[in-house]
Amino acid sequence: MAIQWFPGHMYSTQKAITERVKDIDVVIELLDARLPGSSANPMLAELTAGRPTLKVLNKQDLADPERTALWLAYYNALPATRAIPLDASQTTPAQQIVKACHELSPNRGGLAKPMRVLICGIPNVGKSTLINTLTGSRKAKTGDEAGITKLEQRITLADDFYLWDTPGMLWPRIIVPRSGYNLAASGAVGRNAFDEEEVALELLGYLKSNYAAGIAARFKLVELDAETMAGMKDEALLDTIGRKRGALLGKGRVNLQKAAEIVMHEFRAGNLGRITLETPEEFAVWLADGQRADAERAAKKAARKQKGKPKPEAASGQDA
Ligand code: G4P
Repeated sequence: MAIQWFPGHMYSTQKAITERVKDIDVVIELLDARLPGSSANPMLAELTAGRPTLKVLNKQDLADPERTALWLAYYNALPATRAIPLDASQTTPAQQIVKACHELSPNRGGLAKPMRVLICGIPNVGKSTLINTLTGSRKAKTGDEAGITKLEQRITLADDFYLWDTPGMLWPRIIVPRSGYNLAASGAVGRNAFDEEEVALELLGYLKSNYAAGIAARFKLVELDAETMAGMKDEALLDTIGRKRGALLGKGRVNLQKAAEIVMHEFRAGNLGRITLETPEEFAVWLADGQRADAERAAKKAARKQKGKPKPEAASGQDA
């Protein structure tokens, strides 16, 4: 896969979460509503020792509302889990968050037993923006570079409600290839870590079958109905978009790098319509495939290792 990033401060964040979680009542996992499955940390349950979890589907303003409803239903059916949708236009998100946390941990509250909450999420998911809204200040710095929230910080939301922030974190092994592409498309991965053309092609491959109308409208592809677009090669669609936008290299050739940047920018800005890149059902299939492939890889590696080892008899010199 083309997505390669350094986990950076992941190990220290992991350590900080493991330490902090001992005194935590509820974990808030901020997810990107456009890719809830892919933006969920696969190590979180283990790191947080199964603490009750509030899944906040953030940036819902950019996501497909029907699919957000599917994801909320999916999460709300899980034990010790609640899910709410959110976006930055919400001026008082604290009410919803505080209410959901009290539902998850009903015995906490009051000065003697304040609610202690840990918030985590991938880079660029909107954590700093949310915390700024919650605190009404500029305590957390926001920015468009992945992973700008650096230090764990405690925020007092009320006298009996504490929130600990953690740095945005990605994990080093993404076993679902589509997750890598979706994370890159969303802006969670620094731009040097992936090939924009490859990610844009994967993105178009999904969008042409699921959100053709949005692409046709934004790029003024009036000649392409949904069926024709779905039947097109991803490369041909990227080429058509580049041509429409005047991303040319000369001699009529399309600047595919530029075209890819345009596609990603339009997607991130929500200009292709409200889009969600995965449904719970799709993600479950991708995950099962990814886990199977990962197990096969591990088995092959173990077999190779075994092959390379000297036979026990030979090693101990007890050959007859
Ligand atoms: P982080 O701390 O999790 O890394 O994310 P941060 O809050 O810095 O937000 C990353 C980007 O996502 C910011 O945009 C922010 O405005 C945007 N964002 C956050 N929440 C929402 C939301 O609910 N909906 C939408 N549509 N966008 C959201 P940016 O590109 O850095 O620029 P700017 O908006 O600050 O100009």
